[in-house]
Amino acid sequence: MRIERAEGLGFCFGVKRALAILEDVARQKGGVETLGALVHNQQVMSRLNGLGVRVVKDVAEIAGDTVVISSHGVGPKVLSAIKSRGIGIVDTTCPFVQRAQTAARRLSEAGFFTVIYGDVNHPEVKGILGWAEGKGIATLSAGDLDKIELPRHIGLLSQTTQVPARFIDFVKTITERALVKDAELRLVDTVCHDIRQRQAAALDLARRADLMLVIGGHHSANTRHLVDLCSPHTETHLIETAAEINSGWLAGKDLIGVTAGASTAPETIDAVVRRLEKPAPR
Ligand code: F3S
Repeated sequence: MRIERAEGLGFCFGVKRALAILEDVARQKGGVETLGALVHNQQVMSRLNGLGVRVVKDVAEIAGDTVVISSHGVGPKVLSAIKSRGIGIVDTTCPFVQRAQTAARRLSEAGFFTVIYGDVNHPEVKGILGWAEGKGIATLSAGDLDKIELPRHIGLLSQTTQVPARFIDFVKTITERALVKDAELRLVDTVCHDIRQRQAAALDLARRADLMLVIGGHHSANTRHLVDLCSPHTETHLIETAAEINSGWLAGKDLIGVTAGASTAPETIDAVVRRLEKPAPR
């Protein structure tokens, strides 16, 4: 049995950056609050808990004098609410997310209605919508737009972690519907470079592997996208830790591919590979 790791698996640039900033602040202050979970990964959050990091759900819950904004970012109203309480902000918003926020703000300022291809309940998408200043909508289904009257000036963006090919399909559907007299459509590619490369590498490996293990949080959007991409090509399982590996999956497999979401720690990936190299006795 061979084990191959996909290229660019585990912590992405934005998560590494956010964790480094947060850990620094937590050590200096002996603990700090973050607005929402920094990453959607239970193991990482438990480790941060050990450094005195506490997650608060909204601004009203902040008890300390400083709060850390996660790599997913927030909208301008949330920033104002924090500032109005005199609370200091440590902003770890990923630069790729900031790029999407800036695109939404510019579209709004130019009079465009922003349509975001993304999960409306995801914190990143809520933040980007906030920068569209109420002139926008987020959905993963182009059919949802049949329920509203689309204006003639439409800006199209994607949540950073979506699958590029699906965003393109979404754009095609909207274009067919929205291209009416005098319409103007502006498309901004806001898919994260890191995610694009990671998805391509995972897909390449899945096409060759007999089994793919995708390591990441069960609630992590980018991890679930990796599962969706690999599943049509080979048997694929989402696991959070090595303990979730079922020995039955490994029987008769030659090449086992391993990839991981952007918030999966290197030690979690190493533990999975070690477990694969030494299958548990039956
Ligand atoms: Fe940023 Fe892309 Fe990671 S948007 S947080 S580098 S997945």
